Amino acid sequence: MKRNILITGGAGFIGSHVVRLFVNKYPDYHIVNLDKLTYAGNLANLKDIEDCPNYTFVRADIAELDEMRRIIKEYEISGIIHLAAESHVDRSIKDPFTFARTNVMGTLALLQAAKEYWESLPEKYEGKLFYHISTDEVYGALELTHPEGVPAPFTTKASSDNDMAYGTEFFLETTKYNPHSPYSASKASSDHFVRAYHDTYGMPTLVTNCSNNYGPYQFPEKLIPLFINNIRQGKPLPVYGKGENVRDWLFVEDHARAIDLIFHKGKVAETYNIGGFNEWKNIDLIKVIISTVDRLLGNPEGQSEKLITFVTDRLGHDMRYAIDSRKLQSELGWEPSLQFEEGIEKTVRWYLDHQEWMDNITSGDYERYYDDMYKNR
Ligand code: NAD
Ligand code: DAU
Repeated sequence: MKRNILITGGAGFIGSHVVRLFVNKYPDYHIVNLDKLTYAGNLANLKDIEDCPNYTFVRADIAELDEMRRIIKEYEISGIIHLAAESHVDRSIKDPFTFARTNVMGTLALLQAAKEYWESLPEKYEGKLFYHISTDEVYGALELTHPEGVPAPFTTKASSDNDMAYGTEFFLETTKYNPHSPYSASKASSDHFVRAYHDTYGMPTLVTNCSNNYGPYQFPEKLIPLFINNIRQGKPLPVYGKGENVRDWLFVEDHARAIDLIFHKGKVAETYNIGGFNEWKNIDLIKVIISTVDRLLGNPEGQSEKLITFVTDRLGHDMRYAIDSRKLQSELGWEPSLQFEEGIEKTVRWYLDHQEWMDNITSGDYERYYDDMYKNR
């Protein structure tokens, strides 16, 4: 089967893993990576596949409707995997408009361009799919009913050696949307538009909501790469509030594998939650990162714990996210490939071995931006 697949945001963290997987696994597909190359987009993430004959990079802004119309038509796109977004909560608190423009208007422009092109074809929507990548943050925040943790009621291979849950509730596909940050509000809005294009025009769409990803190529404004880099440089580790917030972590390649499976086998108009039942309190996760980095750098155990610096909490900081991914596991047979302890070791090693990648993006504009944010706390 010959398919022309548009992957948006393919130069970012998760997108680059999805592009790499599709380019390598499906030589018969033509993969078109559409990315604006904002601060978060980096073509160095795709060096290993950039010369592959089934790969094309196009620099464009998803919010430019005419550009989306032109690109979708020119490449005769039959499937779209939409990851392009502004993705960092802290930035959304400072600049919500950019999030509305890209995440809401950008998604809408892409939907409209796909609709017009697909409806112009004789076969119309047959064999087409608009797959929208979303987040667990749209569901809001769960309560910390068990702050010390209780044995987790569900586990997968992604879970850690000592599995814990910090509350009794989990996000289900049926959980009512209740976003709190400008980022999650913009993602929630985009999810609604995607479903509206299915319900109103009959466009074949799908939405997935995933938990926090970690792994190689993540921009070092996010907790894990930021802290690995700061430990290496002996810089402070800014822990928001008391470090008690809980996140549910999944290795990025396992998210990319889920996207592949759902793109090919998922049911149109369905929602699938993606997560590994791997909850961590921030402060506990930070201690694991510190001990892993110290060990791999040959530092005395716990040496970098002194870098922990409690700072003013993030505004509206969601307390706990925990995804219930049993639907995806039982209906499509997905399961994570990596246990958390292996994943975090692999991740820390990758950042320590890819200093040049890190140094390139932490110099210049980004460094100044980060300094400003840090000073303001
Ligand atoms: P990222 O910030 O690393 O990458 C986003 C990419 O989108 C960048 O390459 C950027 O250049 C591109 N982009 C931004 N604005 C654009 C525009 N207007 N036009 C075209 N391209 C544009 O993000 P990520 O962490 O890889 O997240 C990818 C997607 O997955 C997002 O939709 C995010 O909401 C979702 N998601 C992320 C996580 C996570 O833990 N990182 C978890 C669940 C869902
Ligand atoms: O849940 C999925 C979401 O995960 C994605 O949709 C987002 O795109 C992604 O950025 C991520 O959002 P978070 O806000 O959870 O990730 P972040 O890495 O920014 O923060 C993780 C936790 O660590 C959060 O509770 C805030 C805290 N934190 C973060 C940073 C950057 C700190 O304590 N200090 C920090 O410096």
